[in-house]
Amino acid sequence: MDREILTRQIRDNLDVVGVIGRYLPLKRAGANFKGLCPFHQEKTPSFHVHPGRQTFKCFGCGAGGDIFKFIQLREKVDFLEARRMLADLAGISLEDEKRGGVRGPTKSDLVGVNDWAQQVFRRQFIGVAGADARNYVTQRGISAESVEQFGIGLALDRMDGLIEEARKARIDVAKLLAAGLVKQSERGGHYDTFRHRLMFPIPDINGRIIGFGGRTLGEDPAKYLNTPATTIFDKSSNLFGVDRAKHAAGKTGRTVVVEGYTDCIMAHQAGFTETVATLGTAMTDAHAALLRRYADRVILVFDSDEAGQRAAERAVSVTLSSGLDVWMARVPEGKDPCDYILAAGAEAFEAVLRAGVGALEFKWRQVAREYADSATSPARKRAVDAFLEQLTVWAGHGVIDPIQRGLLVNQLSKVLGLPAEDLHRQLDRLARRSTRSRLAASKPEAGPGDRSTSPRQVALQQVIEVLLNEPRQYPSVGTWFDPGEIRDSELAEVGRELKATLEGEREFRLDEFLGRFESEASGRLITDLQIRGERRGQYGEVIAAARECIEACNRLSESSALVDALRQPRDTQPSEEGKDGQSQEDGLLRALASSARQRHFSPARVRRRFIQET
Ligand code: UTP
Ligand code: MN
Repeated sequence: MDREILTRQIRDNLDVVGVIGRYLPLKRAGANFKGLCPFHQEKTPSFHVHPGRQTFKCFGCGAGGDIFKFIQLREKVDFLEARRMLADLAGISLEDEKRGGVRGPTKSDLVGVNDWAQQVFRRQFIGVAGADARNYVTQRGISAESVEQFGIGLALDRMDGLIEEARKARIDVAKLLAAGLVKQSERGGHYDTFRHRLMFPIPDINGRIIGFGGRTLGEDPAKYLNTPATTIFDKSSNLFGVDRAKHAAGKTGRTVVVEGYTDCIMAHQAGFTETVATLGTAMTDAHAALLRRYADRVILVFDSDEAGQRAAERAVSVTLSSGLDVWMARVPEGKDPCDYILAAGAEAFEAVLRAGVGALEFKWRQVAREYADSATSPARKRAVDAFLEQLTVWAGHGVIDPIQRGLLVNQLSKVLGLPAEDLHRQLDRLARRSTRSRLAASKPEAGPGDRSTSPRQVALQQVIEVLLNEPRQYPSVGTWFDPGEIRDSELAEVGRELKATLEGEREFRLDEFLGRFESEASGRLITDLQIRGERRGQYGEVIAAARECIEACNRLSESSALVDALRQPRDTQPSEEGKDGQSQEDGLLRALASSARQRHFSPARVRRRFIQET
């Protein structure tokens, strides 16, 4: 069990793009990254890395899997060795658990001391000295549940409140120093970092406290203080609330990013549990990498036009570099999200989020406004040029594809009252000039060979292909999907594991599922299946057709007379829609054809395959 937790921690601390990017250069291609496959010789890149799923796949040689499979293949090591190497990279010490002996404070020491400090802050908040702090929290509209959930605490109005507690608990002050909880004075003594402050513990994605934010309860000009950078805390790569938000973000498909602790807490209180807060910095690429694991869309909420303008540059840059779909939403009336939610309520806040626009469009509107505001025609021309210039860069980064480009140009042409063709021509000129502009137009490659041949086998395989992409479909296949019917033994094993995983407690994650199979071949097979399912799409329809097909096969196998009839050669081919559908046979063929349509089976071919099987 321990082993599983550690494996998960390694996964949570690492990003597939970062891990693979250490071995080969990766270039962005839409939401994914591409590079030359390290496992076979090639001149054009067919090796794809998918940050959303934390997987990789080579469409040339078929190699695929999660970060563990990559290291296994690349370093030619077994799973345990790959895990050791990745633990190293993630800064997780596997030895820590076994050996007690340590030199300086380790990372787990720091987490331990933060944990202890958190208990002290909580006690102080609840105790007699906490009356003012509790009043303040209540007056800010923060509920008792939120206080509990976020573990809000209190640092006393003393120079050595925490140091005193540490003495009592026999905790070495060196650990407090390393955790940033105390500071060294010029005369060599120590004093508390956080004094007379409301304390917000900052957990990492796994809920371990890596630092604190403290809001002054007095007149300190530094309204907020954060833990300084330590070996476990870095403002620019962590987000407040991410431990609580990650599951919700996975469900809603979006993460809401606000600027303040109180904004984040209030958003959660109002039901927006997919909310996180930056820690006094603008959004960074590291933040994006963290969020990318849970949802593709990020909504940045800002509270003034000026904040919006500032955020826009970062948002566009994050969109460019991470492939996240970054949206910008503005809270009206100069309120911050916390005040706004308190004053206007959850529905109004949802409306704010829905009124957001994509970062690229936000930027675009800015340019359009500049255009509208410029009275002279050279100024107008400059504004248009600036935007076309932007479009060229985005297209060159593969951030927007030709279709998006077309849509943006059409919009632009409407707003500016210029013909779209002129804009396209101008864009083409710019694109030719820009060496970076190679539009990322990746054509879908041919799928891997079929593993199964009969309709029943095809249907079973398609169910697996769908479930790997859309585990939420599982309840609708529970009864009739039986992996025991799968003939191919490897595929059957995948089916069995999948069923077991989907019936388990934990949320399905493709990378974790891949982790259940230690062989390299299974990485290839599972990624093949996933990609086929994704390309076909139409998850609900495929499941329905597969069900129809399997049920028809079941009915039919009871009716041998019909099987005999089917064995008879026919000169007329049934139409694709099975218009004359009076007989069971036609129903079956229709079901088979519809389940197989995506694979370009003609009904005649379905019929041949069916005859082969029965
Ligand atoms: P705000 O000043 O908007 O704080 O700063 P807030 O959350 O609205 O605070 P309240 O509502 O007055 O309590 C937003 C964020 O910027 C960082 C903090 O992370 C804060 O939550 N900040 C702000 C600092 O790090 N230091 C400061 O002095 C101020
Ligand atoms: Mn505020």
